[in-house]
Amino acid sequence: MNTLTINHLSLIYQNGHQAVKDLSLEISNGMFGLLGPNGAGKSSLMKTIVGLQKPTSGNIIFNGTDVVKDPDHIKRNLGFLPQDFGVYPKVSAYDLLEHIAVLKGITNRTERKNQILSLLEKVNLAEFRKKEVHTFSGGMKQRFGVAQALLGNPKIIIVDEPTAGLDPEERNRFNALLNEISQDVIVILSTHLVEDVRNLCSEMAVMNKGQILRKGKPAVLISELENRIWSKPISKDELESYYSSHEIISRQLIERELHITVFSEEKPEHFDPVKPLLEHVYFHTLTQKP
Ligand SMILES: Nc1ncnc2c1ncn2[C@@H]1O[C@H](COP(=O)(O)OP(=O)(O)OP(=O)(O)O)[C@@H](O)[C@H]1O
Ligand SMILES: [Mg+2]
Repeated sequence: MNTLTINHLSLIYQNGHQAVKDLSLEISNGMFGLLGPNGAGKSSLMKTIVGLQKPTSGNIIFNGTDVVKDPDHIKRNLGFLPQDFGVYPKVSAYDLLEHIAVLKGITNRTERKNQILSLLEKVNLAEFRKKEVHTFSGGMKQRFGVAQALLGNPKIIIVDEPTAGLDPEERNRFNALLNEISQDVIVILSTHLVEDVRNLCSEMAVMNKGQILRKGKPAVLISELENRIWSKPISKDELESYYSSHEIISRQLIERELHITVFSEEKPEHFDPVKPLLEHVYFHTLTQKP
């Protein structure tokens, strides 16, 4: 079993912005979903875990070793798929994997070759191994990203919004791949897609403004909202008065008609009950006053 323990972690950027605030979290094998709006601090947290930036205070322990004091330990056991890869060098997929494998310390040539070829098979890129990565489609680039993250059989894999920009088929394929690799390792997945967390993750957390607001098993968090979520179609003019009288957690257009969804311990008059979804957990968490 692998464990990652984050204790009272804070990260303040040079411009004074605090992106992570006294955050504590314990994660073990399986897929862990990190949900949060833009700017919540997800990427900042992930980059700190992988040792790309040093925290201002607090510590991170991976399998008993302090990540900040001994960054090489986690780096040897880590696969990271960043949100933004930047520019790819003009080399073939195979050669780029070869380069990354050397950086990851896979020194044996035969072993390196075997790993690269089997990973290219796994992510369905074997036939494109001689093509340059910058010519790949978005989905192919993401699958390449997974291949490089898996080099060296990491025990912890961190993927930051991996399916953003993928078409539904590519997204399904990508999720199936993540699911397959998450059995015996820690996978931390940050995403805006609540549905993906519901389908893939055994544990999750909602993050906002540098803090974890709620964590647990998706199914348990959903069950806590049983008989507490209600909805009603309204006209646009009524919206403001409903905001002052009800705890609106979301509003959305359904077949061009405005619906509001509210959280309430008792059934509000003229509202219909709604079967709670993880989306409601997410919105309810974000609308709650600290
Ligand atoms: N290098 C930096 N210097 C200063 N502030 C930064 C830096 N990087 C990020 N921030 C700020 O820290 C906060 C958290 O950013 P971060 O990228 O971690 O959020 P996120 O949850 O990953 O958002 P998104 O969902 O948009 O990717 C934001 O307010 C952002 O503007
Ligand atoms: Mg981010």
